Amino acid sequence: MATITLEKLAKSYGAVQTIHGIDLAIGDGEFVALVGPSGCGKSTLLRMIAGLEEVSGGRLSIGDKVVNAVEPRDRDVAMVFQDYALYPHMTVEQNIGFGLKMRKTDAADIAARVAEAAQILQIEPLLQRRPAELSGGQRQRVAMGRAIVRRPSAFLFDEPLSNLDAKLRVEMRTEIKRLHGLLGRTTVYVTHDQVEALTLADRVVILKDGRIMQEGPPLTLYEQPANLFVAEFIGSPQMNMFAGTIAGDGQPGIQLDGFRLPLSAQAAPGTKVKLGARPEAILLAGSDTPDLVTKVEVFEPLGSDTMVSCRIAGTMAVVRLSPEVPVARGMELALRFDRRKLHLFDATSGNRIASEPHSA
Ligand SMILES: Nc1ncnc2c1ncn2[C@@H]1O[C@H](COP(=O)(O)OP(=O)(O)OP(=O)(O)O)[C@@H](O)[C@H]1O
Ligand SMILES: [Mg+2]
Repeated sequence: MATITLEKLAKSYGAVQTIHGIDLAIGDGEFVALVGPSGCGKSTLLRMIAGLEEVSGGRLSIGDKVVNAVEPRDRDVAMVFQDYALYPHMTVEQNIGFGLKMRKTDAADIAARVAEAAQILQIEPLLQRRPAELSGGQRQRVAMGRAIVRRPSAFLFDEPLSNLDAKLRVEMRTEIKRLHGLLGRTTVYVTHDQVEALTLADRVVILKDGRIMQEGPPLTLYEQPANLFVAEFIGSPQMNMFAGTIAGDGQPGIQLDGFRLPLSAQAAPGTKVKLGARPEAILLAGSDTPDLVTKVEVFEPLGSDTMVSCRIAGTMAVVRLSPEVPVARGMELALRFDRRKLHLFDATSGNRIASEPHSA
């Protein structure tokens, strides 16, 4: 059973605390992504799980065993790094089997495990090549092979794809997901790329400055961000944010620059808020009453959608339109907010405020 449990896990370097008491329970076979901006503590957390970094406070368990003081080699986890550092003078076969050889595994067993890993990774024809004769994606597969042959109960990945170009990254992403489906091992995957996190993981943990900002299934984070940080971090293009105030005239509503939206919110009148609307939450008004009229400033025809930049409530906003809508620079747009897809945050604390559409 490779559950991984973090209880009030903390890390300090000298007097500086970088991880502030993280609580997280990772289930057996679960795929969890740790995501957040540079320096938020992703690698430090992963390295603590691997045993490469000492724990300063709290408790870390793998299965039902507390491993705070257990050596990395006795933790039954395998780590794949961004810099996969293959041995240049060894063949692919020797690179994959090297760790087992160092552990004095029997030669026949090594050969069998290497063959099995090569088959899983579909690199059998490459086994006699040296790393210099491989593409970036193939090298990455070899690095994963080294981890697979150890048959660990958990895989730990630290930005394994960031040295690859965009197309290969997408390919290898699919590969890692396929591997997880095939092997079913507990996986902790560190990335600063929110798309990678959302597409790969069963559960995403968003970190900032050594603290968890929110954790949950990908769609929950997208649809119910708990605070401004998560709202702006998840989603591409970013969620549009408009400054507003809770109306104080007895009628529920949010007053924005130039217009008012009929939302009832659980906050006192006069509270400064941020209204969040993703590009797909702003629609052409059609036969409905528009909330506002604006002009197309820039448009990007992507084929699947057309992204339109226009000024809304004093802010440049991005609106996602169907590619069938004819768009031109300067064209007038009558727009309406999709009331069911709006997010409200306290402008001071950044925390989500519960709100619902209100029919005037
Ligand atoms: N050996 C160290 N001594 C002092 N501070 C450190 C050390 N290693 C990391 N830190 C600090 O701990 C914090 C977290 O670093 P970490 O490497 O975990 O970030 P990260 O989220 O992996 O960032 P990135 O996306 O850039 O890899 C950073 O502020 C970093 O400067
Ligand atoms: Mg890192």
